[in-house]
Amino acid sequence: MKNTVLVAVGLAASAAAQQTAYGQCGGQGWTGPTNCVSGYTCVSSNDFYSQCVPGAAATTSTKTSSTKTTKTATTKTTTTKTSSTKSSTTKTSKTSSSKTAQPPTTLSTITTTTPSPTSTAPPPPNSFSLEGYARNNPTGTVSGGTGGSTTTVSSYAAFTSAVKSNNPKVVYVSGIITLTSKVKIGSNTSVLGLGSNSGVTGKGLSLSSVDNVVIRNMKISEVKGDDLITLSKSTRVWIDHNELFSGGLTNGPDYYDGQIDITHASDYITVSWNYFHDHWKSSLVGNSDANRAEDFGHLHITYHHNYWRNMGTRGPAGRFGHQHVYNNLYEDYRYQAIHSRSDNQVLVEGNVFRGDTPEALSTYGLVIPQDSPNTCTCGDQELDGYANLGAANDWGSSSINITRVGSFTAAEYSYNLTPLGSVQAVVSAGAGVGKIGI
Ligand SMILES: *[C@@H]1O[C@H](CO)[C@@H](O)[C@H](O)[C@H]1NC(C)=O
Ligand SMILES: *[C@@H]1O[C@H](CO)[C@@H](O)[C@H](O)[C@H]1NC(C)=O
Repeated sequence: MKNTVLVAVGLAASAAAQQTAYGQCGGQGWTGPTNCVSGYTCVSSNDFYSQCVPGAAATTSTKTSSTKTTKTATTKTTTTKTSSTKSSTTKTSKTSSSKTAQPPTTLSTITTTTPSPTSTAPPPPNSFSLEGYARNNPTGTVSGGTGGSTTTVSSYAAFTSAVKSNNPKVVYVSGIITLTSKVKIGSNTSVLGLGSNSGVTGKGLSLSSVDNVVIRNMKISEVKGDDLITLSKSTRVWIDHNELFSGGLTNGPDYYDGQIDITHASDYITVSWNYFHDHWKSSLVGNSDANRAEDFGHLHITYHHNYWRNMGTRGPAGRFGHQHVYNNLYEDYRYQAIHSRSDNQVLVEGNVFRGDTPEALSTYGLVIPQDSPNTCTCGDQELDGYANLGAANDWGSSSINITRVGSFTAAEYSYNLTPLGSVQAVVSAGAGVGKIGI
């Protein structure tokens, strides 16, 4: 089955030329149906994608060269587009002069923020350069320890002491270091693995109340009962070209914990070109209902060009935040790949789903039993999340369940979108360690 769309409001397709609920109905190069089934209307998300969303046909979707107005029955979002420049490999995103973030439905005092990027020039078309929220954010592009001292370490003791301070510093890791406890990384730090077999095992890395950190080219594995990388109250982090894995899925979701868990209002993070494999829970964003007020309006994370293979859940699973998920390759993601719940927003575009990957994307609030629910083995019931679809995805045989369309219709920054037909080859060749010449 291709492009299966499951919806809460069941409205059967009535005519061959009509697109089903939440299906694509327009965008550059689209040759399929441009009308929606009864009760749905075709609304432009961006130049690449229009979608059938709930609403009467009277709802308008107009676009001229200078103004784009998008209205849906569920979101009432207005985006004004002032410029758009494109080439075949570079997508220059819109300058939004008016963007209404979706407010939480239960806490009216919380408002979400839209970052004002400090860098508005597009990233260079070098596919391994920094893109996304770690590049474009109100504080400034992540630099890690660039310009600071340089050390090479190959023992637990040397590594722990080298990464501790907040002074700018580059720490090279040589070989695989067995950690006896979790290592805390200071601010203004780059942790760079050397060659294609350097990193840590046994315990993970902790980024707690720090700012401006780069973690690249590291193999991180086998952390029982804890995360490989945990971010808490931390800002401006670039996690790039690492390999994160464990012994597989045979011991259930909780034998290991997450690969990259991002919590407590952490913000402006890019997770790019990582190879995640043979592990159940990948990346949880927003770890507790109790942190809703703290987290809301934060957790801006870009996930791009990552390769996930033989995984269980959370690719990523977001609550309360904003994640831009583009050009990732998902292969054998056994239970659920992208999950947006508890009023979280995701913008999902240009991703490819392959193999035994039953559910590519869901905004349904149920924490499935195959994840790690805490109140019932039948799953925890949370509020639904939101999803927007940008440039077309290749869902393969996976289903999607978008119960609420959100207001995250375009990223606030420029980025290089890989053409969909090249994503599988480009990501499988470019993700992981040993690719960036450290
Ligand atoms: C999709 O979401 C609806 C709720 O809106 C739910 O009833 C349905 O079970 C979900 N489908 C799947 C496959 O999870
Ligand atoms: C990081 O480095 C900058 C520049 O040296 C400095 O201003 C800042 O205070 C450092 N951050 C922390 C948390 O110490």
